[in-house]
Amino acid sequence: MLLVTGGCGFIGSNFILDWFAQSDEPIINVDRLTYAGNPLSLASLADDPRHHFERVDICDQVSLERLFATHRPRAVVHFAAESHVDRSIHGPLEFVRTNVLGTATLLDVARRYWQSLPAEQAHAFRFLHVSTDEVFGTLAPEDARFDESSRYEPNSPYSASKAGSDHLVRAWFHTYGLPVVTTNCSNNYGPRQFPEKLIPLMIVNALEGRPLPVYGDGMQVRDWLYVGDHCSAIRRVLEAGVPGELYLVGGDAERPNIEVVRTICALLSKLRPGRDYSALITHVADRPGHDRRYAIDASKMKRELGWSATESFESGMERTVRWYLDNAEWIASVRSGEYQRWIETNYASRS
Ligand code: NAD
Ligand code: TYD
Repeated sequence: MLLVTGGCGFIGSNFILDWFAQSDEPIINVDRLTYAGNPLSLASLADDPRHHFERVDICDQVSLERLFATHRPRAVVHFAAESHVDRSIHGPLEFVRTNVLGTATLLDVARRYWQSLPAEQAHAFRFLHVSTDEVFGTLAPEDARFDESSRYEPNSPYSASKAGSDHLVRAWFHTYGLPVVTTNCSNNYGPRQFPEKLIPLMIVNALEGRPLPVYGDGMQVRDWLYVGDHCSAIRRVLEAGVPGELYLVGGDAERPNIEVVRTICALLSKLRPGRDYSALITHVADRPGHDRRYAIDASKMKRELGWSATESFESGMERTVRWYLDNAEWIASVRSGEYQRWIETNYASRS
């Protein structure tokens, strides 16, 4: 079986659902259920014997040892992380705890388990670490896109903590020979993304007639990848990635934030007419240290593993907006008191 961490989060839950759409291999889903973890995202698996859920923190070495000894996974797919840049600005230490200490704890438990395996199983074992393009810092408009040789230059507490985790993964390969592979992916979007991130936040606010808060001039560029394409890339790297290698995953869809927000407004006008959504766009104070541009050159994934994204930005955005329109219950379930407090913390002080 696979051991997946963070499987109740945005990408992890999509990965598990996609996995079971094509495989009967069981998954043990290890998730602490922070504010970002939502069991409702996997409600369709409630009676599915292929899915085993364990509410465990990746910093909890003893529980992780028990899970490895009991379930004997053939691979780990590591999604669990604190993942939101704005939250990392307000509370950086939780990011260091989970992303750095948690990854180190998981790596070391995995290493000792792997060292105890018979040779053939040890050879086939994989530790797949899911990381981000943000570890490479920011690009100017004329700069070449990030690739596997880009320097690590993280600028936010989030990206620095992810860079720290990438370095630990690399060290466990070089020092112990643990068969690791790392994917560094661009911004994902799609169903089940927590509405603190740009795209779901704008959809949810627009539906309620609330302001659409664009940071600064809105000309920051992200390279958007539909989450289903990210899941297929991870499956491919798990299957054929070379231990010790990095794989950059992107959607060839660079867009400035303001264009993304206008696309959402246009889709809502088509799918839920009756309001001028674009009139809600409001420029607010920028994020401190805001990276200007991220962009991925995914040619290694294409060349070596035959993977490329299949969803266009336009079709992926329409699927995403439709999903939020059809899943009001899911939206209500994640907007707890904690969510309201976060919105107050992040947006009240922006002019
Ligand atoms: P998310 O915030 O939606 O989900 C994170 C999940 O991890 C949640 O279910 C949460 O409960 C769990 N978790 C957090 N701390 C934990 C801990 N200490 N122990 C166990 N579980 C814990 O994140 P996401 O957007 O799904 O991102 C998943 C991974 O992909 C992260 O590692 C992130 O850095 C990376 N990534 C995300 C994006 C993106 O655009 N979302 C892009 C590139 C890379
Ligand atoms: P986000 O979804 O937080 O992802 P990341 O910071 O990891 O790229 O933000 C995407 C872009 O959208 C980023 O440039 C910040 C911007 N943004 C806004 O303009 N307004 C918002 O309310 C949020 C949450 C993000």
